[in-house]
Amino acid sequence: MKGIILHGGHGTRLRPLTHTGPKQLLPIANKPMSQYCLDAIAETGITEIAIIVGGIGANKVREFYGDGSNFGVKITYIEQDEPRGIAHAIRLCKNFVDNQKFLVFLGDNIIQKSITTFTETFKNSNYDATVLLCEVDNPSRFGIADVENEKITKITEKPKNPTSNLAVTGIYFLTPRIFEIIDELKPSWRNELEITDALDNLLKINNNISYEKITDYWKDTGTPDDILHANGEIINKHPKFQSQHITDNSLDTKNLKIINNVILGTNCELGQNVTIQGPVIIGNNCKILEKSTIGPNTSIGDNSIISASLIQNSIIMQNCKINSTTEIKDSIIANNSEIKDGSTTEKVFLLGEGSKISL
Ligand code: TTP
Repeated sequence: MKGIILHGGHGTRLRPLTHTGPKQLLPIANKPMSQYCLDAIAETGITEIAIIVGGIGANKVREFYGDGSNFGVKITYIEQDEPRGIAHAIRLCKNFVDNQKFLVFLGDNIIQKSITTFTETFKNSNYDATVLLCEVDNPSRFGIADVENEKITKITEKPKNPTSNLAVTGIYFLTPRIFEIIDELKPSWRNELEITDALDNLLKINNNISYEKITDYWKDTGTPDDILHANGEIINKHPKFQSQHITDNSLDTKNLKIINNVILGTNCELGQNVTIQGPVIIGNNCKILEKSTIGPNTSIGDNSIISASLIQNSIIMQNCKINSTTEIKDSIIANNSEIKDGSTTEKVFLLGEGSKISL
């Protein structure tokens, strides 16, 4: 089997963060979100992966993943001229797939469950497709599957009056049959070739699509709130918690408080009267200084310096400098941003790369 990661799209709901790069490279627990997809695919034993790139972010994706050798896989890049839909992106992979079964992972989908068993089952099955379904509270936001007697009967994109709460997640196991279907597909009202329409048509023709239900965590990270939620969840279940704990001999003399699970990178400095309330992940070469309070559910990227600040439920990316008495909560601060001075009121931030704020 081969693997495909979708790394294109507009990312409009995440502007301004997506003005300077693709949303799929935004960090969740200090790791680009699409790397979770790549790692999950590599874990199945699939070594040939195509990454669909497009627009402003394409070069950043190539720079990060290279030929794939650092990640134990071989990567082919396929350019999508415009975000014309998920099915359009998949159709571009016909030559790459070369008549094999394949799996598609949307680069902004985060799941915690391994997909290795699903992949094996699909490989040995006669299904035209297998989709992963997950129960959601707000079905009108997703592609939704109706299921009767353990068979999918219908797949509808963002139904206004949903008849099921089973969302079709962004992980699809497919055969080359899907290409014939996509060739006949008409663009939707939003002028995209929809994967849900392709799957529904495939279902109508052959009634041979299976599904698996995911009960573990799944998030389609389209909005800032989704990203912050995934960040908290992933840090909380981080495998390093089992092996890594802070060892700082000066905990008492510095009046440092480390509560719950905290992952600290190498070469970090923790100052006087600092409180870190896990789950928190702090990258390499960071300084957390003078009376700062970090966490819970917070990640701090490499080389960032935080002084005398309170940061909760937030993502601070790399090379940021924050020294402010304003409480920073539910915020995403991109690389190289700077916040200094302070007022006493709480603010919510969504800052693109290179932002500078004096409060
Ligand atoms: P979406 O979240 O549906 O779209 P988007 O990324 O353009 O975001 P927004 O709605 O905020 O503008 O895309 C789902 C995934 O598929 C995401 O990883 C981007 C990817 N994608 C492509 O690679 N090509 C496409 O043509 C589209 C529409 C999406």
